[in-house]
Amino acid sequence: MKKLALRIYSLFVFCGMFGYLSAQHNIENRIENMLSKMSLRQKIGQMNQVNARKPDERLYQQIRDGEVGSILNAEDPALLNQLQKIAVDESRSGIPLVFARDVIHGFKTIFPIPLGQAASFNPQIVEESSRIAAIEASENGIRWTFAPMMDISRDPRWGRIAESFGEDTYLSEAMSVAMVKGFQGNDLSNPSSIAACAKHFIGYGAAEGGRDYNISNIPERQLRNIYLPPFEAAIKDADCATIMTSFNSNNGIPLSANKFLLTDLLRNEWKFDGVVVSDWASIGIMTTQGFCEDKKDAARKAANAGMEIDMVSECFINNLEQLVKDGSVSEKTIDDAVKNILRLKYRLGLFDRPYTDLNLQSKKYAINHLHAAKKAAEESFILLKNKNDILPLGNNIKTVAIIGPMADAPHDQMGTWCFDGEKEYTQTPLNALKKQFGKNVNFIYEQTLAFSRDKDTSKFVKAVEAAKKSDAVLLFIGEESILSGEAHSLADLNLVGAQSELISELSKTSKPIITIVMAGRPLTIEKEISLSDAVLYAWHPGTMGGPAIADVLFGKSCPGGKLPVTFPRYVGQIPLYYNYERIGRPANKKEVLLNDIPLEAKQSSLGNTSYYLDAGFDALFAFGYGLSYTTFEYSNLTLPKKNLSKDDVLRINVTLKNTGKREGCEVVQLYTSDITASIAPPVKELKDFKRVTLKPGEQQIVTFDLPIQKLAFWNYEMNKVVESGKFDVMVGGNSVDLLKMRFTVD
Ligand code: NOJ
Repeated sequence: MKKLALRIYSLFVFCGMFGYLSAQHNIENRIENMLSKMSLRQKIGQMNQVNARKPDERLYQQIRDGEVGSILNAEDPALLNQLQKIAVDESRSGIPLVFARDVIHGFKTIFPIPLGQAASFNPQIVEESSRIAAIEASENGIRWTFAPMMDISRDPRWGRIAESFGEDTYLSEAMSVAMVKGFQGNDLSNPSSIAACAKHFIGYGAAEGGRDYNISNIPERQLRNIYLPPFEAAIKDADCATIMTSFNSNNGIPLSANKFLLTDLLRNEWKFDGVVVSDWASIGIMTTQGFCEDKKDAARKAANAGMEIDMVSECFINNLEQLVKDGSVSEKTIDDAVKNILRLKYRLGLFDRPYTDLNLQSKKYAINHLHAAKKAAEESFILLKNKNDILPLGNNIKTVAIIGPMADAPHDQMGTWCFDGEKEYTQTPLNALKKQFGKNVNFIYEQTLAFSRDKDTSKFVKAVEAAKKSDAVLLFIGEESILSGEAHSLADLNLVGAQSELISELSKTSKPIITIVMAGRPLTIEKEISLSDAVLYAWHPGTMGGPAIADVLFGKSCPGGKLPVTFPRYVGQIPLYYNYERIGRPANKKEVLLNDIPLEAKQSSLGNTSYYLDAGFDALFAFGYGLSYTTFEYSNLTLPKKNLSKDDVLRINVTLKNTGKREGCEVVQLYTSDITASIAPPVKELKDFKRVTLKPGEQQIVTFDLPIQKLAFWNYEMNKVVESGKFDVMVGGNSVDLLKMRFTVD
């Protein structure tokens, strides 16, 4: 009986597989068939992406002539249908367009910036946010987003750190996979699915000095060990449909013409069968980079390297035909690119359903979308300080002063990269606090500074008066949204405007100060933290940031986010990240600091170590750090098996106990360290994490199963290997305070 059931089951699996394979086969046949009927010009048209912010007669004609394959920056569904109709009915090939847009952390309902979402250490939150973004955007006919950005970001001066998942490879990988899955859904052809785009390929976040668009110099081994894994996972584990190259050159080669990465690695090694798109005019700018003589040369180098869609520079549409005729680019190269583009359009179901249903405009800001945005915001908050458990605010707090430029900044709390979010829908902390807690608490509001860069101190007197009348001060400071994001790098990460002076003045009142920071990046706020009783880092929390902050401040929910990026004390410490490669003279933290040096001390390098005389030894806050309203204790780290082979799975048990008085959530983090390797290994690396919620006094054994293969790294000979030897496994609530145990791999 059992055998029969198994056979029937196998038959189903086989038929399912066969169905899938035959559908695939069918698509490939249709693509070949279509390609055989296209002129060279029409093929090149598919490789041309056009900006349609202001569509005009020229664009209509280009579409009619089959010279456009995809369009970005149009979002009005009626217009999209109109453009689509021209492509389908009036162009000779009738191939539908695909409409793309930067839907980065929400379409209408705005979720926390991606760096904030990463702080949740909760991939489910990320998947849900991008699912909702896809549902809302696809209602308008947008079927391709240029997200997620998975650039490893170790420099908070770089404005786009806001759009990243932070400094860590493993965390970025987990979040990238989740975000791609959310955008693409279970089936890309479902009208509510949108194609994701893994960007920017690669090294863009390592721009020299944190200056956007600058060069990077990342050797292949570091590329493979640190920067590439999120891209590989997005492709292999989440079927990410497209990839975008970056503006920078790496080791002297602009990424839009890097054959090794675009063809050898992406196609031959990873077997990627999706589409490669350039960044905005990044083919054309290779002339400015001094890498190409002119746009024709740029088109040749890009196409021959494996670039498939030219975003707006018109290098392809103006030059590829001639280049093919000259024999400088083969027609096969063009055919391969067009096959991938047509495959994307098939996968999106555009040949069957090219138009958007205009009656669908109903799900934007749906109640479940707002709930999800609030939950995501709550989970993204990080409690950095909580002296004397001032938070959550208790019943004894009757009058509260709400002060600062970010308390009621509906535009700015949405954060960077919000083309479509509307500030009229944003719920600010000021409104939410009054609405949710105004019955029992008397709120006095003093904006004091009109915006974060405001330097006018004339309203400080009124702010101080309000503070004096209150039992506690809620001070909302940070950065306007425009201070982070693309092309918004900063050399100074101190608070802008007169915000720091404001906190100094308020602190003189001796009233408890609870500082809520809304920002797109880590800021160097050591002084302001010391003047505050509690600090909640809320990033730019999106549409529902206000209600989420209000609930956290009054204890309706408990903060549990952890830092996805190291917070430096000073800009001069950058780059500063937890998983640096081991050095020969590490600081032992007992060394002299600037003021300890005796006068006329003699120069000697004996016993010297690596640190700054003026900045001390540590970061302001380490990667993975974040408090809760309760406390957690880690104990009993055990490894049932300590000698393992390379095919084994290491089991790790640790006991986590809630030792405080409230229910709370902890992100249990698992790190490993290779004691000796054939290349100097990182001091430690995050390998897994789990979010655990415990009631007061409750304890739980948290178990991880770590496949030993996850210890693999790319060695000097550029092979991915697990090396035998000793390793440490470490578990804890941040990257510094960890329980540790040794194991060996044979
Ligand atoms: C430039 C940005 O670098 C990229 O991330 C974005 O998707 C494109 N512009 C399109 O807006």
